[in-house]
Amino acid sequence: MNLFGKSIIGLENFSSDEIRLVLDTAKEMKKIIRSGEKKVSNLRGKAIINLFLENSTRTRTSFELAGKYLGADVVSINASTSSMTKGESLRDTLRTVEAMGVDAVVMRHKAEGSAEYATKCIKPIIINAGDGAHAHPSQALLDLLTIEESKNRLEGLKVAIVGDILHSRVARSDIFGMTKMGMEVHLAGPKTLLPRFFNFDGVTIHENVEDAIKNADVINVLRLQLERMQAGLFPSAREYARIFGINKNRLSLAKDDVLILHPGPQNKGLEISDEVTYCEKSAIHSQVENGVAVRMALLDLTLLGVRD
Ligand code: NCD
Repeated sequence: MNLFGKSIIGLENFSSDEIRLVLDTAKEMKKIIRSGEKKVSNLRGKAIINLFLENSTRTRTSFELAGKYLGADVVSINASTSSMTKGESLRDTLRTVEAMGVDAVVMRHKAEGSAEYATKCIKPIIINAGDGAHAHPSQALLDLLTIEESKNRLEGLKVAIVGDILHSRVARSDIFGMTKMGMEVHLAGPKTLLPRFFNFDGVTIHENVEDAIKNADVINVLRLQLERMQAGLFPSAREYARIFGINKNRLSLAKDDVLILHPGPQNKGLEISDEVTYCEKSAIHSQVENGVAVRMALLDLTLLGVRD
């Protein structure tokens, strides 16, 4: 099993062994992040472009640092400063960066399927950093790493994913990753923000958040993706916070040692209260560190492969 030379589009295409390989490699990568030096030469001579055509703080910065910690040359291109604002197509933009000799393109784009499309346009490895509401594989992998570090296992754990499931690429990738690793997934959100036709082994849908978080080992709170919504999908911010918001009271339904995740950025006070964000059960800060480690693992494994 090897991810060498492979593009990373979504976890639907991953086996549980491949997920295990990424998690174990990421644990090794954390040692580099925590060392004084924060620099190795694994990817020396490799060039990576971060092509971010949708906004990002965590994912873009952590992919950039991940490449740099591994010794690659990394250049980031943002939507607002690229020639796409002058009307250049995605295909021509990709072919332009390919001509510069890059080995991998980390790409974020608002259209579902854009990362897969990119693999048809150019030869370098494509790593999907989020394509519309479709997939966000590195986020799901960092979620798994954060859970495993805290619980020492994944199999058999009950996770509740709460919020805007319909528009969330994080939810989609989490569902594939978590079920492949033997976790029991419960989804909850307003009816208008839940998938309409959904039948997935190991996944239960609830319209009531209390049912989903009861005895949960992990609660992953999702942001309302206001930029992907038409108006009227939930009554009002205050109503949403009251019925679905994760606050200290609701938390008492979950296991005592429940772990709280949120991919960020947050709509403050809407889907999660500050009290929960900053409480001792929250692993939101660890998710960010683990994001760098998982992205280092993905770059290392796809550009260099497993070595003896
Ligand atoms: C997520 C994303 O961009 O899909 N954020 C992230 O990568 N840290 C979730 C979100 O934007 O809500």
